Amino acid sequence: MSKIHAAITAVNGYVPDYVLTNHELETMVDTNDEWITTRTGIKERRILKGEGLATSDMALPAVNGLLEKRGITAKEIDLIIFCTTTPDRVFPATANILAQKIGAVNAWGYDLQATCSGFLFGLTTGAQFIESGKHKKVLVVGGDKMSSMINYADRTTCIIFGDGCGAVLLEPNDEGNGLIDSVLKSDGSGVQFLNQKAGGSLHPASHETVEANEHYLYQEGQAVFKFAVTNMAEVAAEVMDRNNLKSDDIAWLVPHQANKRIIDATAARTGVSADKVIINIEKYGNTTNGTLPLCLWEWENKFKKGDNLILAAFGGGFTWGAVYLKWAY
Ligand code: UT7
Repeated sequence: MSKIHAAITAVNGYVPDYVLTNHELETMVDTNDEWITTRTGIKERRILKGEGLATSDMALPAVNGLLEKRGITAKEIDLIIFCTTTPDRVFPATANILAQKIGAVNAWGYDLQATCSGFLFGLTTGAQFIESGKHKKVLVVGGDKMSSMINYADRTTCIIFGDGCGAVLLEPNDEGNGLIDSVLKSDGSGVQFLNQKAGGSLHPASHETVEANEHYLYQEGQAVFKFAVTNMAEVAAEVMDRNNLKSDDIAWLVPHQANKRIIDATAARTGVSADKVIINIEKYGNTTNGTLPLCLWEWENKFKKGDNLILAAFGGGFTWGAVYLKWAY
């Protein structure tokens, strides 16, 4: 009997309408389009505007569109894994909130926190439920409302991040397509370089934490860059090596969209040519858990059945990883 793989059978995405351009940022902080473009590759990012809107409100249209594309109802979903660093609330899980919003009354779910590597951790975890035969339809959502934790007076971080959400459906595949392998890593010694200082059990919210700006994302950019530029490339190369894949075997490299220079380094290390590297950072910036599913969504029409894809990511924690999958449709 052939092995059951977990294959992506549908993908969809959602980005908010509001476009925050580099030129608008020039009016908010001491920066300029040239600096942002050459240092990061970002030209604009999307921002979820409006009272009472949270990460799940971006997941809702993304998932409803996905269900429509696949021609199934939410009642058929067995499990929802919501990969996010900006959950609607500390608790309950955004997966629960989304399940209620879409009407996934037969699903259970949980949130997965692995910062920018979250979607890869979620994909790999979700695949286990398909491969084991436990579930037939697993929804993996990756999305963040990064604007909810960005200090728009801090030029070192506000230029990077944006809001957006994507989702994929995992189903069993017996044709050899789907998730083949993954290499996932985490290293807690990186906590000091990229974190949100307050709001958790270590430093609960107080007047003092608010006054000290400790609820905003904190990043030491250079330290994160150094770790990311080496490790994202290494892990992508590792998953290729152990599956005997040469650069010519790769149809698409799908890198986390944090910085164009990190993407270029990963492409160079793996030998994948520029025309096969998926990049949309110029439009959306870093949407954290959203980058990879948004890339899959935008390139879906270019993929062919059996294409070899390498997904790679790096994020705070530190967390990083790469996934090798064969496109299934
Ligand atoms: O997905 C999560 C993982 N996160 C990442 O992967 C982010 C990794 N880090 C980076 O992408 C880069 O480190 C940044 C884009 C954040 C910063 O780029 P950099 O080339 O590392 O710049 P830098 O921090 O070394 O700063 C260089 C200079 C500094 O000025 P001085 O000290 O040389 O006078 C900064 O103050 O650029 C200045 N600077 C800016 N100038 C104009 C910092 N931010 C800005 C800005 N506009 N927005």
